[in-house]
This record gives sequence, C-alpha cells and structure tokens, in this order.
Amino acid sequence: MTQEKAKLELRGNVYEIPVIEGTEKEVGLDISQLRRQSGAVTLDYGFVNTASCASSITYLDGEEGILRHRGYPIEELAEKLNFVEVAYLLVNGTIPTAEEKEEWSTLLNRHSLIHEDMRHFFYYYPEQAHPMAILSAMVVSLSTFYPELSQHRPDEPEEHINKAAARLISKLRTIAAFSYKKSVGQPFVYPRHDLSYCANFLNMMFSSPIHPYEMKPEIIKAMNTLLILHADHEQNCSTSTVRLVGSARVNLYASVASGICALWGPLHGGANQMVIEMLENILRDGGNISKTIDKAKSKDSEFRLYGFGHRVYKSYDPRAKIIKKACKEVLQATGTQDPLLDVAMELEEAALQDDYFVERGLYPNVDFYSGIIYQAIGIPKEMFTVMFALGRLPGWIAQWKEAREDDNFKIQRPRQIYVGPTLCHVDDSLR
Ligand code: CMC
Repeated sequence: MTQEKAKLELRGNVYEIPVIEGTEKEVGLDISQLRRQSGAVTLDYGFVNTASCASSITYLDGEEGILRHRGYPIEELAEKLNFVEVAYLLVNGTIPTAEEKEEWSTLLNRHSLIHEDMRHFFYYYPEQAHPMAILSAMVVSLSTFYPELSQHRPDEPEEHINKAAARLISKLRTIAAFSYKKSVGQPFVYPRHDLSYCANFLNMMFSSPIHPYEMKPEIIKAMNTLLILHADHEQNCSTSTVRLVGSARVNLYASVASGICALWGPLHGGANQMVIEMLENILRDGGNISKTIDKAKSKDSEFRLYGFGHRVYKSYDPRAKIIKKACKEVLQATGTQDPLLDVAMELEEAALQDDYFVERGLYPNVDFYSGIIYQAIGIPKEMFTVMFALGRLPGWIAQWKEAREDDNFKIQRPRQIYVGPTLCHVDDSLR
C-alpha cells in the first residue's frame, strides 16, 4: 500500500481510492471500500482490468513477454530444473535443496498408486469418454478416499496440506496414464519407484506386457520442459476457478477438479487439441493457409486461429518461443518428419505479417506448438489437455494454498448490474 490516493468523482461526491503497488511496480486501485462508501460497484467484463488477489507466485509482463515463478525467469527454470523441482518451488516457495528434493521425491513416490477400488471406476466410462472428464471425476473422487482434507479447516496442519499436494501431483500422473490405457483397451501399468516423474509417466503410458517402453533421454527432457512451461500462469481461467471454488472452503481435490473442467475449454487449455485439428484440416485442404487466416478474421465465424492470442501477452509468449525450439529438437531426436510443423510455421509467418493480427497484438501462445511435440512423443490429441493439466497442477495447488493462507481471505462473490425487468406483479386475469 502506498501513501498515494486516486480520486473518483461520482454524482457530486469525491472518493479517495488507495493506490497499491506490486514489487514489480504494477499499480492498482484498491476499491474494496468503494461500494460501502459510494454505493457504486465496478463493471469489468471478463475481469480484463480486475486483480482478484495479491499473489507472490508468478510475475507476468505481457508487453515485455516476461514470465517468472517466485522471481526465477521461465527460461532458466526450463533449462536448469526438472518438473518435480519446479513443482516444489511453486508449492513451497523455494528451489529445493538436495535433501528437500530427496524428501519431496520420496513423498511423490509413496503416493503414486491409486486405491485399487478407484481402478475399477475406469471400466465404467464409455469407450469414447473424453479423458478430461475422467480426469476431473477421478480427482474429485480422491476426496472420498482421502477425506482428511474434505472439510477444509483453517488450522489444518501444514504437513497435511503438503501430503495432499504430493498425493495429487503423483496420482494425477497415474490417473492420466490409466485413462489412456483404458481408451486403448490395454492393461494398466503401475508406477515404479526407480523411475523419475516423467519417465514413470511415459512408462505407464507406453509399456505393455509384450513391449517394454524404450526410454529416450530427449523425450524425457522434452516432457519435463513442457510440464514446466505449463506449471503456473497466475490468475488464468482455471486457476481463478480453483481459487474461487476454494474460497468456499472446499477441499483441494474438489477445487482442482473444477480447475480441470475450466481448463478443458477450447479458449483455454483445450486449444492445444484444436490447434492440431486446425493444422490437420489445413493439410487435408491442400495447405490452404490464407483460407484459415480469412476464416479466423471473419466476424461471421466463431472460428479463431487456435494457439494464437492471449489475454495478457501482447507480444510473443515466452513459453511458445521455448516450445518452438524444443519441437524441432524432439522431431530430430525421434527421427520424425511431421508435415504439421511446416504448416504451423507457415501459418505463424502468414499471421504475423497480417495487419489484423499485428494490430491486435496476436502472437503464438503456449498451445501453438505443444501438440506437435506431444504427437512426436506418441500422445494422442485427446490427451493433450490432460498433459496441460498435469503441468498446471502445481500452480493450482500453490494458488489454492496461498489463497487459504491469505489474511485478506474472503469467499469470492462478485456483484452484478441488474438489467432485468423492474418490479411487476402476477396478473391473475391472464392465468
Ligand atoms: N484468432 C482470431 N482473432 C482473435 C484471436 C484469434 N486466435 N484472438 C483474439 N482475436 C481477436 C478478437 O476477435 C478481438 O477482435 P476485435 O477487437 O475485432 O473484436 C481481438 O483479437 C481481441 O481479442 P479478445 O477476444 O478480446 O481477447 P481475449 O483476451 O478476450 O481472449 C483468447 C484471449 C486467448 C481467449 C483469444 O486470443 C483466443 O480465443 N485465442 C484462441 C484460443 C487459444 O489459443 N487459447 C489458448 C490461450 S493460451 C493458453 C491458456 O492460458 O489457456
């Protein structure tokens, strides 16, 4: 909070609004007393100008293309740390020491199995069930197996929260891999303590009783990079959902399950699946890039250039830069020649030269190239958003935890401007 005050003049009265400043000099107006003082509320569709909280987890500057977690640039985290370390950093606030990393890994290993009864749930989903629906249902079901956190208590010991966090991070990976195995009709492969987080996931996904999975270090590295790049992104739609649901004092599992549902949407995490489908359509259509660009620009169509544009970034998404580079490396390592990469690069180039995209500051986002890597790893497109969820999970947990410990904690309950009919009465003669 600064000493500065902004002034609002409304219907002859002047109200002083405290000015707050973040550690990176972001300026905000604290309007928390506005309605009490003036009777007025603010209207901000889509929360384009509204900060819902103060947070010390992630810093994002959309104009400069900066993304940092707990102060560390995303580029450094992606290069020097693995996903498990970044998860620790987000949830606990510091990069783990060797000892803390050991403890954290042991905790993750200890909680990697899901209860055998939960395994049976998978059998009753229809064949074509989308894995995001399964993922969300399974995560909320965890609260029935681990009820100690179900009734959220403000005095819940820290170690219970950390145990639930580790349980969730570890089990989501198992649930994701099992949902894939169910979709291809293969037996489940159980987690192994001797494998790292990503290697374990790949083994559960792609090993079968007749074909052990051949581990390639480049693939494990690429998966680590992808998960790190998705790990947190401040108050995006799914994270805000987790915070909002959590603000009713809902347990961690239920809050995260609702975040998974929000992530599923094609304007959010579901965009990665839409990108690949869009690129495939272009290829099928003989590589007609301009037709796709025209359709994305047309006001008569709901269609958008998926993997392009962002609420906060008005320059190149730093995550997309890293993914684009990783994409080429993975294709090289796997000896894959994916024509979709050529289409994607051509599409990007065409869009970045088009006035429509230039004027609106629309650049490739994290979803534009990620699907090409997932495909090279062998992950089917229905699972792309599940991969996003695996990556985003530490961020959701960290934000849920931070909100819970916030001195300014309040149930989230926005106001509205009512625009419906004014008072009217039932006309008995018409009934
Ligand atoms: N293709 C065509 N036009 C677009 C696109 C796009 N991808 N994105 C924005 N626009 C236009 C939009 O129509 C609007 O035009 P006008 O000013 O003429 O009405 C202008 O650009 C501003 O867009 P907006 O819809 O007001 O921006 P927003 O901040 O509300 O939406 C967005 C952000 C990500 C939902 C949007 O850019 C979009 O739909 N992108 C495609 C879906 C996508 O890739 N989503 C993944 C986002 S990154 C991962 C994540 O965090 O989920």
